[in-house]
Amino acid sequence: MSAKIINGKQIASDIRAELKTTVENLKAKGITPGLGVILVGADPASISYVTAKEKACAEIGIYSDDNRLPAETSEKDLLALVNKMNSDPKINGILVQLPLPKHIDEQKVLLAIDPVKDVDGFHPVSVGKMVTGQKAFLPCTPHAVLQLLHRSGIKTEGAEVVIVGRSNIVGKPLAVMLMQKSPTANATVTVCHTRTKDIASHTKRADIVIAAAGKPNTITADMIKEGAVVIDVGINRVDDATKKSGYRLIGDIDFESVSKVASLITPVPGGVGPMTITMLLYNTVESAKSANNII
Ligand code: GUN
Repeated sequence: MSAKIINGKQIASDIRAELKTTVENLKAKGITPGLGVILVGADPASISYVTAKEKACAEIGIYSDDNRLPAETSEKDLLALVNKMNSDPKINGILVQLPLPKHIDEQKVLLAIDPVKDVDGFHPVSVGKMVTGQKAFLPCTPHAVLQLLHRSGIKTEGAEVVIVGRSNIVGKPLAVMLMQKSPTANATVTVCHTRTKDIASHTKRADIVIAAAGKPNTITADMIKEGAVVIDVGINRVDDATKKSGYRLIGDIDFESVSKVASLITPVPGGVGPMTITMLLYNTVESAKSANNII
C-alpha cells in the first residue's frame, strides 16, 4: 500500500481564503481583528514560527502588533506588556511565544493573559472550559489535527486513536478533544509517553496514530496497522549540508517506511504546521467577532 498524502498546505489555504472573506466583511463594519505577538529572546525556531504567524496575519488582513524583546527581559516587564495588550481594544488575541527564557515563570505569564484574548488556548480558564465541553478557544495544534482529519473525510467516532506524546500544548488537549461526546470526536483514545512500556503494542491496533513526541523516527512502519491514518505533529531540525540553511525539517514519523503501510499520512513540512497557524488566525477572527457581539 502507498499512502495518500493529506495536503495540510492546501487545506490551510482553503480555510485562510474563507477567513480572508470574513475579515473583509468585518473591515466593512469598521472592525479590524488584531493579534499582539510577543517573542522573548532569539531562539531560531521561535523566530521562524513568529515570523510565519505574522506573515499569515498580514495575508488575510489581520493587524499584528510585533514585539520582539531581548532574552534578558524581566518577568515584570513582560507582565506589564501583557497587561497593556489586555486593555488595548485594537488587540483581540495575545500570543506569547513559548518557550520563555528560564528566569520567567511561564505559567504566571499565561495566567496574566485575559481569557477573552487567549487565542492560544493555554490559559487555565480556556483549558477548563475545553475539558468540560464548553465553548472555548481551542489550542491551535490539536485543533489543526482535528480539522485535518475532518476535512480529509476521516471519521473519529468509534475509532481507536493512539497519541504518542503527552505535552500540555498537544498530547493532553488533543486526547480530551478527541474523547468529547460529540459526533465530530467520540474516539477511544490512548496516550503513550516516555514511560509507556511497549508503545508499538498500542500503535499497532490503532486506526489513527498521532505522533507528537518531538523526536525523529519515533514511529516506524512495524508499529503501524495496515491502512491506518497517520498524523505527524513533529517538527525537528536535522543537519543537512545540501541545504542553504544547513538544516531540513523532519517529523516524528519515518515517512518513507510508514507511507508504505498507512492509508493516509501527513508530510513534514506541509502537514500539520500550516494548519496550526491557520487555527491561530481562526481564533483571532472569532475573538474579534465576539468582542463586537457578532456570532
Ligand atoms: N511554541 C510552540 N508551539 C507554540 C504555540 O502553539 N503557541 C505558542 N505561544 N508558543 C508555542
